[in-house]
Formats: sequence, structure tokens, C-alpha cells
Amino acid sequence: MKVCVIGTGYVGLTTCCCLAELGHSVTGVDSNKEKIRKLKNYISPIYEPGIQELLKKNKKRLRFTTSIKEGVRKSDVIFIAVNTPPREDGSADMRYVEDVSKKIALSMNSYKVIVEKSTVPVETGKWIKRVMNLYNKKNIPFDVVSNPEFLREGRAIEDFLNPDRIVIGVETERARKIMEDIYKKIKAKKLFTNIETAELIKHASNSFLAMKISYINFISRICEKVGADVKDVSTGMGLDKRIGREFLDAGVGFGGSCFPKDVSAFIWIAKKCGFDFTLLKEVQKINIEQREIVIEKLKKSLWNLNGKKIGILGISFKPNTDDIREAPSIYIIKRLLEEGAKVSCYDPKAMENLKKVYSHTKIKYCKNVYEVGEDSEGIILLTEWDEFKKIDLKKLRKVMRVPVFIDGRNLFERRKMEELGFIYDGIGR
Ligand code: NAD
Ligand code: UDX
Repeated sequence: MKVCVIGTGYVGLTTCCCLAELGHSVTGVDSNKEKIRKLKNYISPIYEPGIQELLKKNKKRLRFTTSIKEGVRKSDVIFIAVNTPPREDGSADMRYVEDVSKKIALSMNSYKVIVEKSTVPVETGKWIKRVMNLYNKKNIPFDVVSNPEFLREGRAIEDFLNPDRIVIGVETERARKIMEDIYKKIKAKKLFTNIETAELIKHASNSFLAMKISYINFISRICEKVGADVKDVSTGMGLDKRIGREFLDAGVGFGGSCFPKDVSAFIWIAKKCGFDFTLLKEVQKINIEQREIVIEKLKKSLWNLNGKKIGILGISFKPNTDDIREAPSIYIIKRLLEEGAKVSCYDPKAMENLKKVYSHTKIKYCKNVYEVGEDSEGIILLTEWDEFKKIDLKKLRKVMRVPVFIDGRNLFERRKMEELGFIYDGIGR
């Protein structure tokens, strides 16, 4: 099929590459000229495992342009995958979705299926339809479909091509048939619903997962007071099939471009319906507190942080991505600087992105873990990269001035770390 994907960010580019891999001819569109310049040369503007390889492998079926008109006219199915960032009140900023919908309407030359891929508030489908009707002067027929994306960064391709389910909100048989064809080669369960239900499934799922994380993070606080181990609590809870082990890892809390923004957006959606979603407000509160806990733990060992050299291992909001949007590291570095600490840091992929946020400060950007450790008086681990699992801990211990190690992701075992001479603290253990 001929497909256009508008927005070539983490979701859009994955959609482009994976739909091409499934055999479709894909035109990727983005207003960011620099991204498109790279993509025209089949160079990925983001780090996501496997994306670069898929881009090169499917060259013949992938085209990129900055022109929505060109993309729309060439295609039968148009995916909208632009960003839907949070506004100050927590609601989703829908200006990019609206702008793109308007441009699609103005470019129409034949029947199209317009697919919402971005995470959007319920009833966005209705708005897209309204905008289309306002600007689609020749009354060319179209259908709107909601097809929320559940991929996780760091494993986006695997999640896209082997999802637990594909949710598709449709209104007509014609659109349903086309969406069945798009995903024919993917074996997952396809759940067809109306558009509002599909939109709601996305928000309900993301907030539920965020709730699981805040739940276990709160339990981790109780664990510390009573001598229990949160890792074992998670295992014990997770063995119950009704609960499941996933998303029960206690740590410095959730970050990323989705959970924080989507929980806020869902609270706002509920508010519009006349409900105060206090449960989700508590999820947010616990998550923010969780970041402060590592600072408190550091102070417990080092007293004042002023003038002390503190190392950060891991900047990205999770492993296998260079994405630092809403990463706990950003907040924690800010707090350390406020306390007067000297910060050095290392991340396998996210250093360049961090420089864009903290270019003006005295942060030291290191080439490896041991450079971070050199003369440091404390280290905080914030991302559980595989590379960190292989750290030569003896070597690290040796180069540190004071061996305080705060493990914000429970990557190491206390006993082993203490045997090696670290003053170790994890989360909830
Ligand atoms: P992103 O910021 O990485 O990419 C969005 C892209 O859209 C950018 O390249 C931007 O230049 C482009 N864009 C914006 N306005 C445009 C316009 N008018 N015309 C053309 N291009 C335009 O965002 P993302 O992380 O890919 O997320 C996109 C959507 O998918 C969001 O709604 C997000 O909530 C949702 N989502 C994200 C993830 C994730 O893991 N990142 C997962 C599921 C769903
Ligand atoms: C999330 C959703 O999982 C995905 O379905 C949706 O499409 C986009 O948002 P993503 O943000 O890429 O995906 O990563 P995810 O693996 O969900 O992790 C989000 C955050 O939660 C990370 O900061 C991670 O470290 C944290 N997390 C995750 C925990 O703190 N504990 C856990 O048990 C799991």
C-alpha cells in the first residue's frame, strides 16, 4: 500500500521503517528540514536500536520530504505521528495535529484514510473530522481512524512488529478493511473498536502502567523502614498472573516523553468530564518525590553537598535510548547544582542531548564511568544500561575519593558492593 507518515520522530520514524519492512511504500514527512536532510541520506536522526539498519535495508520503499502535500497526494493512508506536548495546565497541546489535519485537507486528491498515531485526548478523531470538513473544499471522501501506538523507546521496532495487540478505532467497513491490509503481516490480536474507545485505551493503559510504578515506589519506602526487600516484593507480587511482574521495578521514578505527559493529560481529560482523578494526582506526586529521595540518601552519607564532587551514571530516561525528555537525571542534576555540588556525568548515548540542556554550566562531560569516578565523593546511578552491569567495580572504587554509591535502579547487590568497600544504598532494600 502507499502510506504517508507525518512526523518522523521516535514514533513516526519507527512507523516509516516498520511499514516499509512489511512491504508498503512509505513517504515520511517532517517540517524539520535538518531531520529530512539526514533521512534523505538514510541517516537516522535519533538513536533507536535497529532503526539505522531498517532505514538502509528498505531504501527502495522509503522516501522523505518536508512537503505534506507531496506525501498526501502520493498515498492512500496517512498516519499522523506528530508530537502532542503538554501545555502548562497539563492538557495536551494539539496545535500540531490540527495544523497537519488542515494541510492534509488542503492537499486531498482522492479518498484517504487518516490515522491518528499520536497519543491524543479522547474526541480528537471528531476534531480531525471537523477540520477536514472545514478545509476539504472539494468534499473528497475520507475516513478517520484511531490507531494508538504502544511501542517503548529502546525496543521500538520489536514492539511495533510484535505487539501484544493492535488497537484500531474505525467508523466504516472501508477503513477497517484498509487497516486490516496494512497490518496483515503482523500476527498480533487486532482489536477493532469505535474511535473514542481506541483513544481512551491508550490513555488508560499508559496511566495504569505509570500507576504500577508509583505503587511499587511507595512500597519501596515502607520496605526501607521495616527491613524488607522491594525486589523480592515485586517478584512475589508478580508471580500472581493477575498482577504480573512487569513495571514493578522501584527506582528514581518514571520519565520520558510519554508517562509524565500522558498522566497529566488524562487528569485533564477526566476534569473535562467533571471528575477529579485524585488517584493519578497521587501517582504524579509519588513520582516527583522519588527523585528527591536519591538526593536525601546522598546527604545522609555526605552531609553537605556544597563543593563535593558527585558523579552521575546514566542520563537517558531509560536504557537503549538517547532520549532525555523528562529524564529524572535532568531534575537530579539541577538539584545537585543548587546544592553547590560539582557534577560529572557519563551516558553511553545521551551526552550530546544533555549538552543541549546544560551547555552553560560547569558540568563535566566524561568519556567513561571511571572518569566520572575519579576523585568523586559520591556516585548516583540513574539508568540501568547494560554497560553499567559490566563496570569493573574494583577499579571504580579505587579511583573514587569517597566510595558512596547510590543505586537509583537497584542494579547491584548491597552485600557485594559493601564487600568491595562501597558505602552503598539502593531503593527499598
Ligand atoms: P517526536 O517529538 O520525537 O517527533 C514528532 C515529530 O513531528 C518531530 O520530528 C516534529 O518535527 C514533527 N512535526 C511536528 N509538527 C509537524 C508538522 N506540522 N508537520 C510535519 N512534521 C511535524 O515525538 P514522538 O516521541 O515520536 O511522539 C509522537 C507522538 O506519539 C506523541 O503524541 C507521543 O505521545 C506518541 N507516542 C510516543 C511514544 C514514544 O515512545 N516516544 C510511544 C507511543 C506514542
Ligand atoms: C511508554 C509505554 O511503556 C509505551 O507503551 C508507550 O507507547 C510510550 O510510553 P517508554 O516511555 O518508551 O514507553 O518507556 P517505558 O519502558 O515504559 O519506561 C518509562 C519510564 O518508566 C522509564 O523512565 C523507566 O525507567 C520507568 N520504569 C519502567 C520504572 O521506573 N519501573 C518499571 O518497572 C518500568
